[in-house]
Amino acid sequence: LSQTNQLLQAQLEASVAQPVALKTVVLYGSQTGNAQSIAENLHQALSQKGIDAELVSTADFKANKLKEQQVILVVASTHGEGEPPDDAIDFHEFIRSKRAPKLADVQHAVLSLGDSSYEFFCQTGKDFDQALTKLGSKALVERVDCDLDYAEPSQNWIKQVVEALEKLTTVNNTANSTAVGQTGSATDNLVTSQYTRDNPFTATILDNQKITGRDSVKHINHIEISLEDSGIVYEPGDSLGIWPKNNLQTVQEILATLKLSGEENVTVKSGEKTLLSALTENLEVSLLTKDFIREYAILAKSDELNKIAESEFSEYIKNHQVIDVVLAAPAQISAQQLVDLLKPIKPRLYSISSSLQANPEEVHITVGLEESENEQGTRFGTASYYLLESLAADDEVLVYIDKNKNFKLPVADKPVIMIGPGTGIAPFRAFLQERQETEANGANWLFFGNPNFNTDFLYQVELQAYLKDGLLNQLSVAFSRDQAEKIYVQDRLLESAAQVWQWINEQGAYLYVCGDMNRMAKDVNNALIQIIQSEGGLNQEDAEAYLSQLRKDKRYQRDVY
Ligand code: 2AM
Repeated sequence: LSQTNQLLQAQLEASVAQPVALKTVVLYGSQTGNAQSIAENLHQALSQKGIDAELVSTADFKANKLKEQQVILVVASTHGEGEPPDDAIDFHEFIRSKRAPKLADVQHAVLSLGDSSYEFFCQTGKDFDQALTKLGSKALVERVDCDLDYAEPSQNWIKQVVEALEKLTTVNNTANSTAVGQTGSATDNLVTSQYTRDNPFTATILDNQKITGRDSVKHINHIEISLEDSGIVYEPGDSLGIWPKNNLQTVQEILATLKLSGEENVTVKSGEKTLLSALTENLEVSLLTKDFIREYAILAKSDELNKIAESEFSEYIKNHQVIDVVLAAPAQISAQQLVDLLKPIKPRLYSISSSLQANPEEVHITVGLEESENEQGTRFGTASYYLLESLAADDEVLVYIDKNKNFKLPVADKPVIMIGPGTGIAPFRAFLQERQETEANGANWLFFGNPNFNTDFLYQVELQAYLKDGLLNQLSVAFSRDQAEKIYVQDRLLESAAQVWQWINEQGAYLYVCGDMNRMAKDVNNALIQIIQSEGGLNQEDAEAYLSQLRKDKRYQRDVY
């Protein structure tokens, strides 16, 4: 009897469930690793259901393999003004080009990560979705565009995709049970202790000092923060997330303009509180969104504001904040109406400027005050104002680590070239501390720039000591305003073209760029292409391909903002 049973059982298993395997790829384009982690989670969730898929970075995906796929799942972040992350640049170009293959009988799903305070919110994800659709692919589930708090929507998207794919593929139980054991690596979520964006650590400020001189055109502070007893760990290249508070004066000006007292009870995500407290701690009152101006313009019956939202938005937001909109046309609105118009405040990320090995239980950041002028007066960046003007030693601040997998030192013996003008020097101070602490013997070359030598040579004493003791092999500085002609880091790169090329091409140096994205990083990129052309004897196209290959090999990493 039992033999018959076994036989029956075997027949049953064989007949039920031959999985219809669809060739599936999970692609990610990720600047700092968040999109990659989500893609890994999706891949793992699929494999737990016995669905085979290939997990691959857009940088490593061979374009000619696109036409072999039946299901294409994409997780992509957007950078700056709607640009793809560095590892997706080539694929983004390819899939929107004439060379991309037709994708009939293909299904796809896209998850985009972005920041809705930028105009081109989630643009890269939108581009991928549109390009795939244009090539003939059908949406398996609808695209989801995530804002900074992507944890929940991304989990829901993963669930939807897995369910949709389960329907498409018949999965047998044996596949299911063997796959459960292969849970892949979920370690990335574990290494940074229990503190996260939504559960930050209450840290204490140890020191907060201005490091630019009295007459400097810049206001930059070096801030040391205690992580004592938190168990928080980080690596050079990671960022520190800071939950800021809004400036009380600005909040009071908004209240006065709208004839609200601040004592009103309002409801925010975290519960009930006074309007004053909500405006100080929970809501964004500096960064403007188009929706805010539009909706406020209706309530204030202001054509002027409506015009700004519709046609002058990009220019306007450079130097205007919520207070300016309110001042332009004070509306008669209730406390709760104001709360509902505003977005939740978001944490700001700062590249960490210390090595944990060199500074146990501490984290340092290097912060420049963001300022802009408009017809009403000076406007300050929320977090930089909070950190520089309202925090002193012993004060508390809410922090967490934001890992950056794509800005990491290479193995100890590789040379590195670090290009970090202004506060872009931050991660390189961490790199140098780490290399000294771990006695890494790879050569180090730092390019630093700022307006004036006398007032703006950040970490001058430390850097000169590193130069003296040999940790720094070369230090190239560009003080832009010490002479009639502007001199920038890219000029110093070009001056040393032969040697830069020698480090890259012969010694296998790794290149790192940190700082301003829109001007500096673009100009540095062009200077690198120029060097590869002139020193390597390549034409422009081949030089670009050379740099692209460096990027794919993780030998050209950027942390730009
Ligand atoms: P500037 O303000 O004198 O023009 C850090 O901010 C340093 O970067 C400053 O010396 C600044 O010079 C310089 N900088 C400004 N634009 C730059 C660019 N396009 N490339 C490189 N450095 C730049």
